[in-house]
Amino acid sequence: MKLRRSLPELLQKKALGEKLSMVTCYDATMAKLINQTEIDMVLVGDSLGNVMMGYSGTLQVTLDHMIVYGSSVARALKKAFLVIDMPFMSYQISAEQALENAGRLVKEAGAEAVKLEGGKAVAGAVRKISEAGIPVVGHLGLTPQSIHVIGSYKVVGRGEKAAQDLLEDAMALEAAGASMLVLEMVPESLAKRVSEAISIPTIGIGAGRFVDGQVLVLQDLLGFDEDFSPKFLKKYANLGAAVRTALTQYNDEVKCKTFPDQEHSFGDKK
Ligand code: KIV
Repeated sequence: MKLRRSLPELLQKKALGEKLSMVTCYDATMAKLINQTEIDMVLVGDSLGNVMMGYSGTLQVTLDHMIVYGSSVARALKKAFLVIDMPFMSYQISAEQALENAGRLVKEAGAEAVKLEGGKAVAGAVRKISEAGIPVVGHLGLTPQSIHVIGSYKVVGRGEKAAQDLLEDAMALEAAGASMLVLEMVPESLAKRVSEAISIPTIGIGAGRFVDGQVLVLQDLLGFDEDFSPKFLKKYANLGAAVRTALTQYNDEVKCKTFPDQEHSFGDKK
């Protein structure tokens, strides 16, 4: 049985100058479609709090939620490397708590790596988890689990002091053993500086061109929400409109009795 992509394979791609692609995914149906592509990595992000659960942010998401959604993806995913987010308060209390919960994401959900938000403050947790043999993906820039400190969903790291802080956080994560780093909503020039300062792959979302890979929320890139169009988002499809058209036609046909027709009904004989 061919295993899913491994961390060494991904690091090799970076060494060869190949860009890495990552999308979020929260369910088996989408994971099966991802299997038919060459996407490198799947992230079961805690953005499932917004996308799947209808919350206004990620703070309500629990480890048990991540295990339910993460294992749904893991059961179907065949090729891409699977990263699962550690939700708010599942790693901030102590390095021991972080390791225990990262272990649950590996054992119960099938994660190949875990992702957590923050810089120097979480370096102890990153070290503990990675020393236990679990790859860790860091996350800097806009970190939605700290929304009450940041204030709003905006670009982070503008100005030399903020840029320097972020750069130091990135270096602290690498020194603690992080295997990759997500940079969310940071100026392109800062993402470039970070990517040049550390050797682990940087994966950008709203971080411009000079990073080692890109990640987008699947539902965003597929254009499900016509009202959500931040500057960094490119929509590769317009599935919101396609779903609406299909559902409207289905409703009309049920009401006017043209569905089901004979073609979609069972006869008496085989
Ligand atoms: O939760 C998530 O989907 C994420 C990505 C936006 C990187 O962290």
